[in-house]
Amino acid sequence: MKSPSSVGAGTPRVLITGVRGKTGSPLARLLVERNDVDVLGGSSNPDSVAMDSVQPTAFSWDAPSGWKAATEGVDAVYIVRPDRADAPDLIGALLDETPVRTRIVLLSEQDADYMGVDGWAPRAERAVRDSGHAWTILRPSWFMQVFTDPRFYRDQVADGKLPFSSGGASLAWIDAWDIAAVAERALLDEGHAGQVYELTGPESLALPRTAELLSAAAGRTVALHEITIDEAVAGTTGFERELFALTFERVRAGSFAEVTDSVERVTGRPARSLRAFLADAGPPFVRAA
Ligand SMILES: NC(=O)c1ccc[n+]([C@@H]2O[C@H](COP(=O)([O-])OP(=O)(O)OC[C@H]3O[C@@H](n4cnc5c(N)ncnc54)[C@H](OP(=O)(O)O)[C@@H]3O)[C@@H](O)[C@H]2O)c1
Repeated sequence: MKSPSSVGAGTPRVLITGVRGKTGSPLARLLVERNDVDVLGGSSNPDSVAMDSVQPTAFSWDAPSGWKAATEGVDAVYIVRPDRADAPDLIGALLDETPVRTRIVLLSEQDADYMGVDGWAPRAERAVRDSGHAWTILRPSWFMQVFTDPRFYRDQVADGKLPFSSGGASLAWIDAWDIAAVAERALLDEGHAGQVYELTGPESLALPRTAELLSAAAGRTVALHEITIDEAVAGTTGFERELFALTFERVRAGSFAEVTDSVERVTGRPARSLRAFLADAGPPFVRAA
């Protein structure tokens, strides 16, 4: 059983930026299930937020004029870092507007230090650390949900292919629900302020093994195609291309290979395996007919 939240007095209010996203959505579900939290679902398109007991809330990185209203009376905020060049400045500006008593949990990424202190991800984290708020930083590995998301590999996997630029390195794929479960604790419980959690699944899998697991779950061969970084980022431009290329450089350098026990340490239960994730995902991870 979960302990009652220790944030402030009365019913805590939590704002989730990116509530429709891969971690925001399960986090909203976990918070609603508690029945002791007011959940504000932040979206740049609040009319599209349709989750029971989640209050649709206008929140856009492109509309700073709405930030004060979105964060007013809020005890804790889950920040999904926007993948854009000005993210460090935007996060700093948002936190300047957010009441200082409000806890902050930032979604960053595994091994963010790889980029050097002046790199983009460390600067985004620094905006949180230097904000004067109590903070927790989550640094997850690659999400298992990239195999079920049409913006990533879902349709290719459904066609029996997994094009990926790993250079032989492994990844400790993590279920976004495990990230959400850690976020829930960090947002509501004591003992997480000032912590940086590197979050991973229970095992580090090379891409051939990943493709085997996808094949077994799909009931058909999913063939791995090792491609170059240039091929992997084809079709992207500007900052998105730079970030994507750096991400694959980091994959190849083993940035996402290390396995940690942070999920279990924080939530009390082990992180889910890719095999279990795919078994539960069922047909949806193969493109809907
Ligand atoms: N995917 C991975 O494997 C992985 C691994 C490690 C770290 N990360 C990091 O996790 C974060 C989330 O990445 P993701 O790809 O999984 O995305 P996601 O959370 O699935 O989706 C991004 C969210 O951003 C919101 N959004 C879009 N435009 C917005 C705007 N102008 N203002 C406010 N919100 C906006 C979208 O919601 P609305 O359209 O409703 O606004 C959506 O919920 C990124 O920082 C990424 O680098 C991802």
